[in-house]
Amino acid sequence: MDGNGRWAQQRGLPRLAGHEAGSRSIERCVQACLDTGVEFLTLYAFSSENWKRPAAEVSGLMLLLEKFLNQKRDEMVREGIRLRHIGRIQELPPPCQRKLREVMDATAQNSRLTLVLALSYSGRTEIVDAVKSIARDAAAGNLAEDAITPELIDSRLNTAGMPDPDLLIRTSGEMRISNFLLWQLSYTEIHVTKKFWPDFQKEDFLAALADFQSRSRRYGGVETQTEANA
Ligand code: FPP
Repeated sequence: MDGNGRWAQQRGLPRLAGHEAGSRSIERCVQACLDTGVEFLTLYAFSSENWKRPAAEVSGLMLLLEKFLNQKRDEMVREGIRLRHIGRIQELPPPCQRKLREVMDATAQNSRLTLVLALSYSGRTEIVDAVKSIARDAAAGNLAEDAITPELIDSRLNTAGMPDPDLLIRTSGEMRISNFLLWQLSYTEIHVTKKFWPDFQKEDFLAALADFQSRSRRYGGVETQTEANA
């Protein structure tokens, strides 16, 4: 959700005003997913590296997260949205952790849209944690070398049980992965828009879906059409 800071700077506003505007883009994007039948939406809300930002920005982001969860809880329950997280949420302030757990529990039975918040998340750290858990099992004699497969690694990641993303949308024109879902993005289609995240509208989401539909996915093999195209 890149570009909140630059969006605010362009208007002579503090960076947090950009993050606040970014929260409203999240609402629009979630609604667009509900409208179009997208079943999984993962938002990179706070990376492990974001702890290096000024303390006021970090605490402001945590408060925004709490506010978002407080305001959206009942709507998520009602609309069939299941909230999940990836990342080390034990590193978040305790009130944020409690609220997240409460909303995740309240929405656990929903299945229309899974909204995944990446919080204190790093793709490399996630892979390191998965490798450590595999090494522990192997050292204890509970895991044979041949049992280490892509599926086993999938099952040890934070995203266990979730499909790999079909589409990655990157705002503000950045052409990097920035430590996001490094394993899971292997065959993901990438859509980059120059728009800053707070300016991202439903039409931009639909344009990204249309771009995705125009791609032919080969997975290193022969041509297949995107599901929506087939
Ligand atoms: C990146 O833009 C954005 C973030 C680090 C925070 C994203 C958070 C929100 C949109 C709101 C809080 C989250 C929830 C789930 C309510 P940037 O600050 O790096 O922008 P810049 O690249 O222009 O500086």
